[in-house]
Amino acid sequence: MRSAFLLSIYSLWAVSVNAYANPKACTGTCGNAHDPALIRRDDGIYFRFSTGSKIAIHSAPSLTGPWTYRGAAIPKGSKINKGGKDDLWAPDVQKVGDTYYLYYSVSAFGSQNSAIGVATSSNLDKDSWTDLGTTGIESASGKPYNAIDSNLYLANGQYYMSFGSFWHGLYQVKMANPPKKIASGAASTNLAYVPSGEHAQEAPLIYKYGSYYYLFFSAGKCCGFDANRPAKGAEYKIQVCRSSSPTDGFVDKSGKKCTEGGGTTVLESHGWVYGPGGQGVFNDPSQGPVLYYHYVDTRIGYADGQKLFGINNINFSSGWPVV
Ligand SMILES: *[C@@H]1O[C@H](CO)[C@@H](O)[C@H](O)[C@H]1NC(C)=O
Repeated sequence: MRSAFLLSIYSLWAVSVNAYANPKACTGTCGNAHDPALIRRDDGIYFRFSTGSKIAIHSAPSLTGPWTYRGAAIPKGSKINKGGKDDLWAPDVQKVGDTYYLYYSVSAFGSQNSAIGVATSSNLDKDSWTDLGTTGIESASGKPYNAIDSNLYLANGQYYMSFGSFWHGLYQVKMANPPKKIASGAASTNLAYVPSGEHAQEAPLIYKYGSYYYLFFSAGKCCGFDANRPAKGAEYKIQVCRSSSPTDGFVDKSGKKCTEGGGTTVLESHGWVYGPGGQGVFNDPSQGPVLYYHYVDTRIGYADGQKLFGINNINFSSGWPVV
């Protein structure tokens, strides 16, 4: 009785102060993990792709490691002839039929001169990727979005790419099948927008659980925390909106439209965890849905090169993801 009472007091407290679980212990190479993208190969090996080093590839026998560096996915840089073609960002990796698709961003920090590229592989490993160049999702000064941070989603036989951003927020466009290019004549639609401040919102990702499509994204300042720490709360955090459609109508827990600044926080700085973001959600065969991301461990250091790979189980039983 007494312990049940204490437990319920504890859960009230946990809900009211957002007591987030710490990231699971990770072994091996848990750095070099900016904007991670996770996939599990049929032989049970996990592959992690991340920003920089021409898309770094790591693999591990389990989600928590030990992670080993295997090499660069696109060692010669992208075929896309834009600044940043040798410094590729924010990978997304998906299996389509028997082929793995790796989407990546070519850009320069703070610039809208950007494109989303694609490479394909039969086995995920280094030396296996063929770069196909641009998907046709591109941006330049004057566009409402920045063509970075892509995520492919298949719904009812149609592929969609969500991407962006800053500027006018997160966007989505229909893709051809197979998803190497945008669908002919497809126009981009707005998924989310924060009208105030710097419109600091990027890295959309759609994940379906039950009857809802969840739009996860990162809000705030991502990078350079060692040189320039933002005001408390303005650093990266992970937020979500949901909808019964994968293409529009996303609202947060309070019912606020994601296109009007809505966004419910899933994970933010807590304890020694600072600025979590660049997230993905992965349905692990043994653990169920996990949220993965990069974060700063304040006991180690705030530089971009010190960011670590974080993983937590997430629980959707309330209808909203809880870490
Ligand atoms: C998910 O959260 C609910 C409500 O807090 C809890 O009853 C349930 O046991 C949790 N599920 C898991 C798998 O932890």
